[in-house]
Amino acid sequence: MNPTTGWLVAGVSLLNILACVWLIWATSRRKPNEVAEGAVKEDVWDGDLRELNNPLPRWWLNLFIITIVFAIGYMVVFPGFGHMAGVLDWSKRGEMESKLAQLTERREAKLNELAAFPVAEIASHPDARKVGQELFGSYCAGCHGANAEGARGYPNLTDDDWLYGGTPQAVVASITNGRGGVMTPFLSQLSNEQVSQLIALVADWPEGEPSGRQAEGMAVFRQRCAACHGMDGHGNQALGAPDLTDDTWLYGGDPDTIRETILFGRQGKMPSHKALLSEQEIKLLAGYVIGLGQ
Ligand code: HEC
Ligand code: HEC
Repeated sequence: MNPTTGWLVAGVSLLNILACVWLIWATSRRKPNEVAEGAVKEDVWDGDLRELNNPLPRWWLNLFIITIVFAIGYMVVFPGFGHMAGVLDWSKRGEMESKLAQLTERREAKLNELAAFPVAEIASHPDARKVGQELFGSYCAGCHGANAEGARGYPNLTDDDWLYGGTPQAVVASITNGRGGVMTPFLSQLSNEQVSQLIALVADWPEGEPSGRQAEGMAVFRQRCAACHGMDGHGNQALGAPDLTDDTWLYGGDPDTIRETILFGRQGKMPSHKALLSEQEIKLLAGYVIGLGQ
């Protein structure tokens, strides 16, 4: 409310109260049984009903006085008199904020209680799981999908295949600090022939000793790729280098996608959630995510 409107409202309120006071004063002043002005003797009905001007009964008047006192009290205490805040400094917004603070407090108490479980147990605790799921919907589903099954470049969190590890510590670390897998581009480092040999190997990783083209690919792999993906292609969780021998793909296992990965590299980025989530929330999320893989 701007000051002008405020003063106007205050003025109208004051006038109203004064008018009420005047009305009470004026009506209670009249002498009992004084004949109303303009009423004549003929204004008599049913034999003895006459128009008189008696003052209002006392109890009725008192009610009016109480209302006036109440109105003044109300305007002193609550914000009612123009733009004045009232001595209680009460406001709708203030009340809402205090309610919200209460809710937050209760929520935090609940979170603390649930997060006290070990991460591994959260998965099997229905209440904790539910909170984890809600958090996942708000903070993670945008990238990992509503049911955590991921998408191209965003890992599936429901399987037992982990880039960085599926232990409570590893998952908590993934969420807290974020992750950034870096696969360097090989566009200028490998010949077309070498890339084709690598694709032959990676697209269909051999069970035993590779032969033919795959053997050629393996020779290049051991030289150029094994530092990160391991001599046997099983990956390295310290670097987030995926296992290339299984059927789970972050970007894709078809020849064209593998070629793109080798030539241009990949930089998957999981953002840090340290600033967004409390330790308890991260713990609940980790428990939820680990539970998905079980
Ligand atoms: C902006 C997109 C994005 C958001 C939001 C996001 N993630 Fe991720 N997350 C990724 C990407 C991309 C990776 C893979 C990083 C890489 O390739 O190195 C990843 C990796 C992970 C991993 C490691 C998976 C593994 O196999 O080791 C976990 C666990 C994870 N995210 C959980 C979460 C949780 C829980 C949330 C919600 C708090 C979340 N992520 C929010 C993009 C995201
Ligand atoms: C510097 C370490 C490093 C080297 C060297 C490296 N990679 Fe990678 N590679 C990674 C990382 C890390 C990822 C995951 C990238 C991400 O998370 O976005 C990856 C991803 C891949 C993928 C995608 C897998 C999927 O699931 O979609 C393929 C394929 C791949 N690498 C093949 C190779 C080949 C072939 C070589 C050798 C020419 C190679 N890499 C060399 C670190 C490396």
